[in-house]
Amino acid sequence: MSGQMTMFGSAILALFLAGYLGQQYLPPPKPRVIGLDLGTTFCSVGVFHPGSGDVEVIADEEGRLSIPSCVSFTANAVLVGHEAAELSERNPQNTIYDAKRFIGKIFEPGLLEQESSRYPFKVINNNGSAEFLVSTNQTFTVTPEFIGSRLLLKMKKMAERQLNVPIKKAVISVPAEFDERQRNYTVKAAQLAGLEILRVINEPTAAAMAYGLHKIDVFNVLVVDLGGGTLDISLLNKQGGMFLTRAMAGNNKLGGQDFSQRLLQNTTEEVRQKFGIPPTLTEDIHHLRQAVESAKLNLTFQPSVTIRVPLHLQADRSSGGEGSSATSVLFQTVITRQVFEEINEDLFQKILTPVETVLAEGHLEKGDVDEIVLVGGSTRIPRIRRLISEYFGKEPNTSIDPDLAVVTGVAIQAGIMGGSWPLQVSAIEIPNRHLRKTNHR
Ligand SMILES: *[C@@H]1O[C@H](CO)[C@@H](O)[C@H](O)[C@H]1NC(C)=O
Ligand SMILES: *[C@@H]1O[C@H](CO)[C@@H](O)[C@H](O)[C@H]1NC(C)=O
Ligand SMILES: *[C@@H]1O[C@H](CO)[C@@H](O)[C@H](O)[C@H]1NC(C)=O
Ligand SMILES: *[C@@H]1O[C@H](CO)[C@@H](O)[C@H](O)[C@H]1NC(C)=O
Ligand SMILES: *[C@@H]1O[C@H](CO)[C@@H](O)[C@H](O)[C@H]1NC(C)=O
Ligand SMILES: *[C@@H]1O[C@H](CO)[C@@H](O)[C@H](O)[C@H]1NC(C)=O
Repeated sequence: MSGQMTMFGSAILALFLAGYLGQQYLPPPKPRVIGLDLGTTFCSVGVFHPGSGDVEVIADEEGRLSIPSCVSFTANAVLVGHEAAELSERNPQNTIYDAKRFIGKIFEPGLLEQESSRYPFKVINNNGSAEFLVSTNQTFTVTPEFIGSRLLLKMKKMAERQLNVPIKKAVISVPAEFDERQRNYTVKAAQLAGLEILRVINEPTAAAMAYGLHKIDVFNVLVVDLGGGTLDISLLNKQGGMFLTRAMAGNNKLGGQDFSQRLLQNTTEEVRQKFGIPPTLTEDIHHLRQAVESAKLNLTFQPSVTIRVPLHLQADRSSGGEGSSATSVLFQTVITRQVFEEINEDLFQKILTPVETVLAEGHLEKGDVDEIVLVGGSTRIPRIRRLISEYFGKEPNTSIDPDLAVVTGVAIQAGIMGGSWPLQVSAIEIPNRHLRKTNHR
């Protein structure tokens, strides 16, 4: 009997050892929960690898880490991401972007008509909710959550292709100011894409987590999110491992597009001074805009940039048409970082207004802010980094690509939800139901 027990015991011990040793040599389990950043202009998907402890932002077939938040309808296809963005000029009425600005939102009468005038596609008012009118060889309407679902489905497939496992679960981020309805409709978009959402987290919280601020001893974190068209400032307060959004403010008419526009105006004026005629052809203006946009990006790492743009200036604008004489010229100019900063300085200064608002609303001095996190492509602009570090008297956290900070944090949260994270990390956030964002212009 006792011998049997011993044998039984050794068998268990052997099994235990085999399991233990086996575990050491088995490849780590593949992530099953993905992290999704469904942005207004770009989307990304990431996963947390439990083996290495790294976040991987998943690339598309061409190695790009973000896809444009754009869906284009043609007679025989629904195109998503880069393929859709490429159609935006040829198929503008049926190429929908900015859907996130409409998702789950009820608009006051008249407001949607006003919004619609800003887009090349038709925005329809369906009892206060926005829908988009699509006319290919059929005419139909699609909802913002349907647009969202096509983007999420594309990212789900990118992840499945990369990881080679079916994906059914995800964590998704939303702007801190999204109300319950907007959050619900974002979840609905995911459901339409066949994804179960395990948690919805705020974008600023995700950005803070990307820097591991949920694991270290900090109390007050300020997140500056400056994208193409909007500025969002959030003041987070960490209490017992959880993030609470203490105050939010922003400017929904300030971003990278405005800085480019200033540069375009300055460059257009230079063309007029040089040749005596301003550029008027849509195509010329388009080429100038592209050159200026690329110059703006390069000025982040170069003190000056030379642009060369062939133009077809219309000498006689009044007669128009074929008869008017077009002069082909090569416009060439040097744009310096100094000029770029000068012509935008007043816009850059506007960034500090909502920063001061959140500090006032959070009853904090600027010295009470422990960490500053930068999110959004426009925070790469050296002058903006300097403005923020001078204001606070400390360097912001910038080691993570500001376009990928949110997806990185969402992927970490997905790792936690998937159980592949060391248990001591609790994280997350306290819902902020009654908080309103203050907007400055
Ligand atoms: C619409 O386009 C589809 C796909 O090309 C085609 O099969 C269908 O016949 C078209 N319908 C009409 C009414 O043209
Ligand atoms: C329109 O919306 C209101 C509330 O937003 C709702 O009470 C009403 O039933 C809706 N009407 C229709 C026709 O859907
Ligand atoms: C959001 O969804 C939850 C759960 O389905 C539901 O209880 C709640 O009423 C919804 N809220 C709104 C505003 O739609
Ligand atoms: C462009 O802006 C710079 C800096 O403000 C200014 O010095 C220059 O004159 C402007 N160029 C034109 C053509 O207006
Ligand atoms: C910007 O830099 C890239 C390489 O980093 C270069 O290919 C491109 O021509 C530059 N653009 C301008 C306008 O200088
Ligand atoms: C950025 O965040 C890390 C925490 O991950 C912190 O240790 C570091 O000091 C922060 N600040 C800067 C300027 O990098």
